[in-house]
Amino acid sequence: MTAASASPPSGPATGHDAPALSIRDLRKTYDNGVEALKGVSLDVAPGDFYALLGPNGAGKSTLIGVTSSLVNKTAGEVRIFGVDIVADRDAAMRLIGLVPQEINFNMFEKPFDICVNYAGFYGVPREAAKARAEQVLKDAQLWDKADKMSRTLSGGMKRRLMIARAMMTSPRLLILDEPTAGVDIEIRRGMWKTLKEINASGTTIILTTHYLEEAENLCRNLAIIDKGRIVEQGPMKALLAKLDVEGFLLDIDGNLPAQLPAIAGATLIAADDHTLDIDMPRAMDLNGVFAALDAAGIRVRSMRTKTNRLEELFVRLTGNDHGGGDKAVAA
Ligand SMILES: Nc1ncnc2c1ncn2[C@@H]1O[C@H](COP(=O)(O)OP(=O)(O)OP(=O)(O)O)[C@@H](O)[C@H]1O
Ligand SMILES: [Mg+2]
Repeated sequence: MTAASASPPSGPATGHDAPALSIRDLRKTYDNGVEALKGVSLDVAPGDFYALLGPNGAGKSTLIGVTSSLVNKTAGEVRIFGVDIVADRDAAMRLIGLVPQEINFNMFEKPFDICVNYAGFYGVPREAAKARAEQVLKDAQLWDKADKMSRTLSGGMKRRLMIARAMMTSPRLLILDEPTAGVDIEIRRGMWKTLKEINASGTTIILTTHYLEEAENLCRNLAIIDKGRIVEQGPMKALLAKLDVEGFLLDIDGNLPAQLPAIAGATLIAADDHTLDIDMPRAMDLNGVFAALDAAGIRVRSMRTKTNRLEELFVRLTGNDHGGGDKAVAA
């Protein structure tokens, strides 16, 4: 094992310079022999918004399960703000708020009671828990539902309740396993806002998602995991910059000419009579492209990025074709 070389922080267990999450050579082999994690190492800085991406079965939920002490690791080391999850399990768990992949609250309880009772498990006194429940339910725009039976909440509201409940203990690290799965784009955007606010107030967030657009929108750093191994990790911007081809859709005034101009290095296709689909190297000068279009009498009214570039990167790294845009790429 390489734990010794990782120079784990010493001193106060919750030291502020310790990573929010530090994983070294983590391995998990399930009883049936499946090697879900084959030596994963990563650090998440305090205050970060971190994406954990990967296809179905990559090992994301296993990693989250180990981190939140729901799954026993086979080997390796995991620390939350410097606290070892095995040596000091209770302290580590108190630092984490978990939003699991499946909705798992009691549908016959009310949101307010779900939140208060959850805090009770963590030893939060009842009066304090009630005040906190009001706060988290208001933050999640669920205060008007506080005393309704949870089963009557919409799917999106249930997802928000999962987040509100996890925030009851004011966790320093919030981990969300596909929090927006199956939620429509409008509600998802509302949840993004909530998550951005939680992160802005100082909570470190780790998120798994199959909506790559979501990761691009929210997260500053990411790891892509595939078959139990990290295949790429680093700042979102740096990874996206690695992609050397960019695609744009240009909306054209009037109709495109039958013969499109030739622009060296770029590929132009008429998507329809008034939409031009163009691929070009990232380094290519857009002014030159526009000048060539202008010379051909093509007037551009607006343009948008064609491809989700993170999607491209993902496909390239994992060899999985996962569809695109706002569409769910996996259930
Ligand atoms: N309790 C378990 N017992 C045995 N094998 C398991 C168990 N949980 C997960 N696995 C296996 O471990 C591997 C990783 O699964 P995991 O749930 O961590 O993937 P994931 O990345 O979260 O996938 P998804 O995107 O579908 O949620 C898979 O091969 C899965 O079948
Ligand atoms: Mg999972």
